[in-house]
Amino acid sequence: MRTSSAESMTRRRLIRNALAAGSIALTFGNRTAFSQTRVIALPPLPYGEDALAPVISSTTISFHYGKHHRASVENLNKEIEDTDLMEKSLEDIVKETFADRRRTAIYRNAAQAWNHTLYWNSMRPNGGGAPTGAIADHIKDSFGDYTKFHKEFAAAATTQFGSGWVWLVQGQGKKLIVLKTANADTPMVRGTTCLLTCDVWEHAYYLDYQNRRLDYVNAWLDKLVNWEFASRQLAT
Ligand code: FE2
Repeated sequence: MRTSSAESMTRRRLIRNALAAGSIALTFGNRTAFSQTRVIALPPLPYGEDALAPVISSTTISFHYGKHHRASVENLNKEIEDTDLMEKSLEDIVKETFADRRRTAIYRNAAQAWNHTLYWNSMRPNGGGAPTGAIADHIKDSFGDYTKFHKEFAAAATTQFGSGWVWLVQGQGKKLIVLKTANADTPMVRGTTCLLTCDVWEHAYYLDYQNRRLDYVNAWLDKLVNWEFASRQLAT
């Protein structure tokens, strides 16, 4: 798509204004239309920055959401400007750029934007512990019992070398599976339904737990997991 320099400047200004105004979307990948341009929006946190304390401090949330998540969204919007991807949803951008070596930078930022939104929704104040209802039945059927699931999830988190993510996903056979991915990678591109994710990049926990990743993940499982959200993601 060819545009004049004046049009490009207008698009960049509109994107900057949209991001500065905190343009929001309540579901993954919603776009906000601004006359001739569209941007991937940074969704609002589902709770206040201090709502998860003391398990995760407001300082960590402020940097994590306000700097890291925001940066992935802003970088993505710059990278897709004036490309065919401007007309795509965030989910479609992730799927279309996965495995396209010419668009690795776009994939990484798009996946990080998507992963972080799932992460915020995977937690809630006073969450965690063993689930109840349909998700509890799936946990029992897939892992034997909640304790075995807890152990497998924590082991995946502590054995993920370097930065990455730990996931509870529902495979195509409906069975629940714990996965870990490196850096920005996301199992969403492989046809799995993502129920929960825990960010194990150091920026997610280092201010509160330093190098004690296991303590962070155990606290995350015991006090923050949003099982109601996970239940809503289950494929029927
Ligand atoms: Fe993160």
